[in-house]
Amino acid sequence: MTLRVLLLGGTSEIGLAIVGALRLPAGTQVILAGRDTQRMESAGKALADASPSGPPGWGGPRGWSVSVARYDATDVASHQAFADSVSAEGVPDLVIAATGLLIPQPLAAADVPQAASMITTNFTGHVTTLLAFAALMRARGSGTIVVLSSVAAIRPRKFNSVYGAAKAGLDAFARGLADELHGTGVSVLLVRPGFVAGRMTEGMAPAPLATTPAAVGAAVAAALDPATLRARRTGVVWVPVPLAGLATVMRLIPRPLWRKLER
Ligand SMILES: NC(=O)c1ccc[n+]([C@@H]2O[C@H](COP(=O)([O-])OP(=O)(O)OC[C@H]3O[C@@H](n4cnc5c(N)ncnc54)[C@H](OP(=O)(O)O)[C@@H]3O)[C@@H](O)[C@H]2O)c1
Repeated sequence: MTLRVLLLGGTSEIGLAIVGALRLPAGTQVILAGRDTQRMESAGKALADASPSGPPGWGGPRGWSVSVARYDATDVASHQAFADSVSAEGVPDLVIAATGLLIPQPLAAADVPQAASMITTNFTGHVTTLLAFAALMRARGSGTIVVLSSVAAIRPRKFNSVYGAAKAGLDAFARGLADELHGTGVSVLLVRPGFVAGRMTEGMAPAPLATTPAAVGAAVAAALDPATLRARRTGVVWVPVPLAGLATVMRLIPRPLWRKLER
């Protein structure tokens, strides 16, 4: 069986780390979807060639075929057609929703269309895209959707109310979708990383329990069956695991105190 893997956010450091950690069999078709074709092509080559042996080249020693597709998370009207077109050669077995945008809150407040763009990229665009893929997977009776939520979804902070609200919306959508799809053969894996050191957080001081794209990749890979890409267990994956405990504490902090936190 040829597996098809779609990464939404084809240059995402976390998304690429997940694909790289999956140990996908030779023949797997990987589709990187996003706006920047050139960067996705070089990311695809690096992914396919990331093996210690064998000749380099597109497709690479791993024996995957890697292709790129144009996808803009903010162009919500195009998402059904995008899903149909990606699925014309086969509905993906795995969709990784890693598209994301973090604009510092003061910039978003000073330029409100940027705030809207953050909401559309981090929330609305995922809803429209994943509804379309979920319906196609459901009709086939199988598929896995990985959703990159965040610890920011747990409780909004005064420093990130827009990003946090979008992530909270996405997190709620993913949980509802998982329940809706229960028993259909389609599963949703909700991933809640904490602070991940990388391009998105460049220049920011690491938060407690900071992690890496590789650690998120390994945690997601551990939650999926490498042969079928089916979720071994559904529910929530926290990265790192102790973040689940910290999130419980975050929920319990009284609001007057929460408000005073400096970051
Ligand atoms: N980094 C963290 O600390 C952290 C923590 C928790 C959760 N997350 C979430 O994990 C996911 C991946 O984050 P990351 O760290 O891998 O960030 P990243 O490397 O900056 O990747 C973000 C991806 O989203 C794409 N993107 C942004 N706007 C888009 C649009 N309008 N249309 C299509 N693609 C668009 C970017 O494409 P371009 O290359 O074209 O910009 C890039 O591929 C995000 O959902 C993020 O919110 C991140």
